Parts: sequence; structure tokens; C-alpha cells
Amino acid sequence: MKRHALPFLVSLILFIPTCFVSAQTSKDEVSAQKIASVIKQLTLEEKIALLHANGIFGTSGVPRLNIPGLMTDDGPLGVREDVLEGWGSANLKTDSATFFPNGSAMAATWNPSLLYQYGHDVGEEARARKKYIMLAPAFNIARTPLNGRTYEYLSEDPFLNARLAVQSVKGLQSQNIAACVKHYALNNQEIERDRVSVEIDERAMQEIYLPAFKATITEGNAWTIMSAYNKLRGVYCSENEYLLKTILKGQWGFKGIVISDWGGTHSTVAAANNGLDLEMGSRPPYNTYYFADPLLKAVKEGKVSVATIDEKVGRILWVMYHTTLSVNPPTGSINTKAHSKTAYDIAAESVVLLKNDKQMLPLNPAKIKSIAVIGDNAIRTNHLGGFGAGVKAKYEITPLMGLENKLDKTTSIKFAQGYRAIVKSKENVNAIETSKADPALIAEAATLAKSSELTILFVGGNRDYESESRDRPDLSLPFGEQQLVDAVLAANPNTIIVVIGGAPYDINKIKQQCHTIIWSWYNGSENGHALADVLTGKVNPSGKLPFTFPADLKQSPAHALNAYPGDAVVNYKEGILVGYRWFDTKKITPLYPFGYGLSYTSYVYSSLKTNKASYTGNETITATLQVANRGNFTGKEIVQLYVSKPSSKIERADKELKAFTKVLVNKGASTEVKLSIPVKDLAYYDTKTSKWIVEPGVYKILVGSSSAQIHQTASITIQ
Ligand code: BGC
Repeated sequence: MKRHALPFLVSLILFIPTCFVSAQTSKDEVSAQKIASVIKQLTLEEKIALLHANGIFGTSGVPRLNIPGLMTDDGPLGVREDVLEGWGSANLKTDSATFFPNGSAMAATWNPSLLYQYGHDVGEEARARKKYIMLAPAFNIARTPLNGRTYEYLSEDPFLNARLAVQSVKGLQSQNIAACVKHYALNNQEIERDRVSVEIDERAMQEIYLPAFKATITEGNAWTIMSAYNKLRGVYCSENEYLLKTILKGQWGFKGIVISDWGGTHSTVAAANNGLDLEMGSRPPYNTYYFADPLLKAVKEGKVSVATIDEKVGRILWVMYHTTLSVNPPTGSINTKAHSKTAYDIAAESVVLLKNDKQMLPLNPAKIKSIAVIGDNAIRTNHLGGFGAGVKAKYEITPLMGLENKLDKTTSIKFAQGYRAIVKSKENVNAIETSKADPALIAEAATLAKSSELTILFVGGNRDYESESRDRPDLSLPFGEQQLVDAVLAANPNTIIVVIGGAPYDINKIKQQCHTIIWSWYNGSENGHALADVLTGKVNPSGKLPFTFPADLKQSPAHALNAYPGDAVVNYKEGILVGYRWFDTKKITPLYPFGYGLSYTSYVYSSLKTNKASYTGNETITATLQVANRGNFTGKEIVQLYVSKPSSKIERADKELKAFTKVLVNKGASTEVKLSIPVKDLAYYDTKTSKWIVEPGVYKILVGSSSAQIHQTASITIQ
């Protein structure tokens, strides 16, 4: 009896604060005294046990006091399959999940409510799988298109990043599952990610690389954050006092846990004193971790105070009260129809129509007798692949399956693989070898194309090719795909090309050669259905590119300035001029601009007005305009508002995205679009005073359908 009394008492204490948690509104009111009373009962050894991994994704907890271990799991593509020590599959039958579209696909929807729904559904699935911290969303800025994780991240623009990431955090946490926003910060390349040090000026860091992190903490209230592998200004992010204590916990008031990236802790005393709370990793023996026996020793030697340890334990308990130990938590569910629908909705809104010169799309399948579907990407699944987190999808509809399921049986569909997509790691994961063009497969594909009325040719990357832990060597299409494209187009000019990828590729030649081009992504469980519906016009494409496609890698800022990948140090010489900010300011024409994407209809913008001509610092600018749908298809248009500051006294980008909205406009109709920009959002970061300053004077409001297609302008004055 006695043996059970104390755990029961502690359960009760743990329970009391969680009583307050049941209502959404009081989640943040978990009593500090109750946490303190639990901390008082823990021995130093037990406290330390809470601060480091004790398994590939979990910590050990304190069984004596019924304190459970934390259980984390990867996103962002969905709840990953269970793995064993050493990362091999656990071969379970119970760990399948919904595969959601990759990060850049989600960003291409420009639809924050879909991101909320994604977070919500992943939260439900995480709960069903008993994972209480999801290592997602991931949203490092796309500084170079070569970054191997571009597909996992969202965008090159801090504002788009922030608006979307905040919603996925809110969605996840609505299920009492903690978001772990990652990777904080400046993890913009995979090459040398474990040791590279980022040199960056403070203004660029504040204006480009931190805003989405700040928004997910201050607005999204993310409960956990992952420190990045790399260093900032010579100091590892996992022990970087400026990032963790000054900015995150100080200026942003972060109350939750700073979790190291896996194996990304490099010290005991510095990391513990500078703000890291939890050391994770996947290599036993766990008692040798910096935050295990060495931390115990450091405390005993007085190098890390007990108060510092208590603070970390308090943060961990605080997160537990919101997640694992929350009262009346949602029950969770997995692989539901609703989750498939979310995956479908995101995929459907993410597809980008790049070119439709002959109005070949949408297809009318009733009029097409034979379709040749060509290319490995038509049959490839992408829920697993490469190095890094995947999902053991319950199912994944490939493009070919989608067409077969959606098209009438009167249309004959034949398939040819066209190219082999083999990616082999060489001596280490950073170097790869890819299969080359296969003349026999190309000949077979060309023959099929020739004998078919229409060809849909699938090329692009895949998840073996775009992968964590390495960057792509260049932008070219892999696997000899261009040779296949040349042969197929020669055999049948009546060809639509669908490029699938998570990052920009060099499709210059395809753009010249082919009249009809669609961009799609690693688009989740419902990929093929969504794509077929776009091709046949059931869905009018409404996705827009979340990053610039350079015409040549040398156009991209980091490459133009020879500022990538660095050698131990990478100097972000382009400063604030990242992505379209660089292209527009330097007047460089990319292959496709940021925010670009066509529709089956055409939109006409008119009557842009602002609610006032002149504003003061605390006001909000409201811009209204009319968007008319002048075609034959109802559609959703992403209206983008950029702001430009002519004759500024400081360096400025030509323009910056400050608002956007996605509106449904019925065919033949016109709708009023309203966009709001708080004047404080026009501020730049002043490095001399470390303050955000709104420069007075005239600003231009530019509204358009991409960063390069501005249809309406207005001027306002800030006093
Ligand atoms: C990645 C993280 C991931 C972690 C656990 C690391 O290699 O950088 O994004 O969450 O592994 O799988």
C-alpha cells in the first residue's frame, strides 16, 4: 500500500493543474506553484533523467512519481512510421498514417486555413499514435534552391512563411499535441549542416530568417522549438545564448521547451546555461549524453545551478500539462476520410499551372480516345524515400492511379516508364550517383507517345533525390529526363508535361519546347486524384509558386555572390535580398517569379483604394480592390499585396509581400477584396538602435498576381 501512496499523491498534484487545462482558453494558466511542488519531490537524478533522450524519439520520465516520458515524432509529412534504434523500420502493422503534401506544396496553396486543417489532422493522428510532440512544422527560408530540404520547408518569403506556419501550429496544438517548430535558426543548407557557421548581418536575420519563428511563438504559442544543427556567428544554435535566451526566451517570452536537433548538442555547461532544455539524439548509450551523467556532474561541481535545472524541468512539466497529461484530451483518430479529404484539398490547391498556351487544359476526356502516360514519376510514391522523415502511408494514389480512377473507361490509358530513377549514395549520404538516360526506355516511350492521341509526360525529382542531409548538386533534371522529353515531344507534340518536385529545377528548355506545363509536388496520399481533377477541370488550378525559379542558378543571390556553401563559414552576403527581393531589386528576370501561377480563367484587377491617404504608427492600412473573373471557370485567385518604399534612406528590397488573400470568384462575377497591413509591419530593423522603425514618407502599395505581375498601384504616406 505504502509503495503506491506517493505516486498517487503526485498524480493528484499533476492532475490539479490540468483541471484548468480542459478549456482551450485556460491552457496557458497552468499553475506555477503546482509545477514547483512536483519539482520539489524530484531528486536531482530524476530531474536530469527528464532532460535527455532515452530512446530514439523519447525520454524516460520518472516512474516513481508517475511522470511519463515525452514521446516525440517526426513530421512534417505526417506522423512518421515507428523506427528502431539505428533507424530501421519497426515493421509494425499499426503505424501507418495519412501522408500530407510536402511543405512547399502546402505553401503553394497560399491558404492558411488549409494549413490549420493540416495541423489539426496531424494532431489527431499523433494522438491516435500516442506521440505528443510533433517535430513540425519546418520552415527555414529557401535561401538557395539547392537546399535538400526545400521540399520540407515552405517558402523564400518570411511573411508567407509566418502566416502559414502559425496556422499549422494552432491546428496541431488544438489537439493538445505540441508543435516543435524547426530548425531554429539559419539552417538553410544541408551541406556541412553539422558544423557550418552562419555569418549574417543582424538586419537580414531579423527581417528574413526570424519572423516566422517569432510568429509561431508569439502568435501561434508553439510549445516547443528545435534548435538547428549549424552555428550562428561561431556558436552552435543549441548553445547560442543570443538565439535561445536573449531572443527566444527573453524578447519573445517563450515558455516551452528548447529541444536540440537529433545529435545536435555539443556541450554540457554552455548548452545548459545558454538555454537548451532537452537533449535529443538517437545513439545509445544515453547516459553518456551531455545532458545525462555529464550534466549531473556539472551540477555537483557548481557549473550549472540547480535553479537552471529546475527551470528546464518546469518547462517540460508545463508542456506535459498541455499534451500528455492534459485533462479530457481529444481522443485522436487516424487515416480517416476527413484526413484524406484534407490531403486532397491541399494537393488540389497546390498544383501550379505554369503554361497553357494552346488552352489544351482542362482536358475533356470524353473526347480523348487514348492517353500515353509516360515517366517514372507517374507511378512513384513519395511517402518514403531519401534520408529523413517519411510516413508509412496507408495508401498513396500515384498520378497514373489517379487518372485511371477518375477517367472514363472509354479512354485507353497506357503507361511507359521512360526513365529509371535510381539514386545511390556513394561513400556517404552527401555524394550521390543517379541513373542516366536509358535509350530502350526512351524508345519505348516515344513509340507509345506516337501511337496515342495525347501524352502526359511526368518528370522531375523524387524523395530519394531531394533529401535531408545533402543538397542537390545543381538544378538540372535528373535521370536523363531531358532526353526523354526531347524524344517524346518529337514523337507527339500533343503533350502535356507535369513536373513533380519540391524545389525549383531548370526547366528552361521545357518552357521553350512545350505549350502546356503543370507543376506538382510530393503531394500526399491523394496526389493522383487531385492532379487528375486539375487536369480535367474539376478543380481549377489555384496554386502559386512559393519561391522564385531562377533561369540559371547563377541568378540566385547566394550563388551570384558566391556565398554558398562556404567552407566552415557561410557568409550571407546578400543580406536582406533573398528570393524575389534580390531578383526584383537587381532587375533580373527569373524563369518563373515568386507568386506565379495561372488558372483556367482570367482575373482582372481594378479600383485599388486605400481607406486613407496618410497614416500614423498605430494605424492599419486597409486596401480594397475589385477582382473580376472574366473567363468560363469559377476559380480561386491569390491576390498579393507588396509594399515598396521609394527613395528610402536605407537599403530596401524593391518590394516586399505584406498581405495576401485567396478569394473565390465565380465565373463572370467580380468580388471586392480587402487586405489589411498594420503600419508597424512596414518597419525595418535598425541595427544601430536594435529597434524596428517605420520610416516616414511615401510608400507604394502594389497589388498583383505575382511579384512580377503588378496590376494595381496606390500611394500612401506615413507620417
Ligand atoms: C532532423 C530533424 C528531425 C530529427 C529527428 C534530424 O536529422 O534534422 O528535422 O526532426 O532528425 O528525426
